[in-house]
Amino acid sequence: MKQPIGIFDSGVGGLTVYNSIRKHFPYEDLIYFGDTARVPYGPKSPNTIIDYSLQNARFLLQHNIKILVVACNTSSAYALPHLSNLSDIPIISVIDPGARQAVTLSQKSRIGVIGTEGTIRSGAYTSEILKLNPQTQIWAVACPLFVPIVEEGWQDSQVAYDIANHYLSFFNDKEIDVLILGCTHYPLLKNTIQQVIGSSVTLVDSAEAIANYLCDYVDRDRYEVPGKDRFFVSDNEDKFARLAERILVNHPSYLKRVRLYESWFVDSTV
Ligand code: DGL
Repeated sequence: MKQPIGIFDSGVGGLTVYNSIRKHFPYEDLIYFGDTARVPYGPKSPNTIIDYSLQNARFLLQHNIKILVVACNTSSAYALPHLSNLSDIPIISVIDPGARQAVTLSQKSRIGVIGTEGTIRSGAYTSEILKLNPQTQIWAVACPLFVPIVEEGWQDSQVAYDIANHYLSFFNDKEIDVLILGCTHYPLLKNTIQQVIGSSVTLVDSAEAIANYLCDYVDRDRYEVPGKDRFFVSDNEDKFARLAERILVNHPSYLKRVRLYESWFVDSTV
């Protein structure tokens, strides 16, 4: 029997990671959990983010997953060491693959990072990059309004452009040649961000980076039957389905809401 790959995020944004994994691994069964009841994680305190992340991971572990992918950058930034106490299966976060790709691509060793307040406050990307290349100069800035812009579907609007212009002007005199999109939602703003930051800066999409990284753990050609998809959310499945239609290639046909019971998300089908 196939064991699925489990993916969790604070909400709908992690579908960028899901998309990329689905594209690279068409035969794998995937199970996605979006904590839509408690999104956004970006402005929350580290302890809250850790608690929520543990509950999300426990839910996926009930489904006998073989790998846990932490799609949420904010969860990845704070909860990783705590998650690895839960299980022996590989746990993959977006931080390490994103940092690695950025270091490989940066010829000037001058890298910018954008993310939620929590991710930037944690310094997780900075410390990962410095582990890989201590000579790198890194500048990081939080762009909290990018998440609601994407949730509203305004990623290619004038509003998005103006806000991007405001946030990214921080990098004007930094001469970076690589910018890490350190948040699940930012790949959906890629066009606007690229337009504002200029074509001399390479964007690193953590969603893409993590799928390449998974190749080390998953045998791509092991199965011949197309993989199944299951989506679970903690609230507002209708809103999730509407947003998902804009992000996913296919309509999420298996979508269920689960509820939190004494700190455990409960799915009646398990
Ligand atoms: N998923 C979050 C991240 O990648 C963005 C949305 C949120 O703040 O929860 O950091």
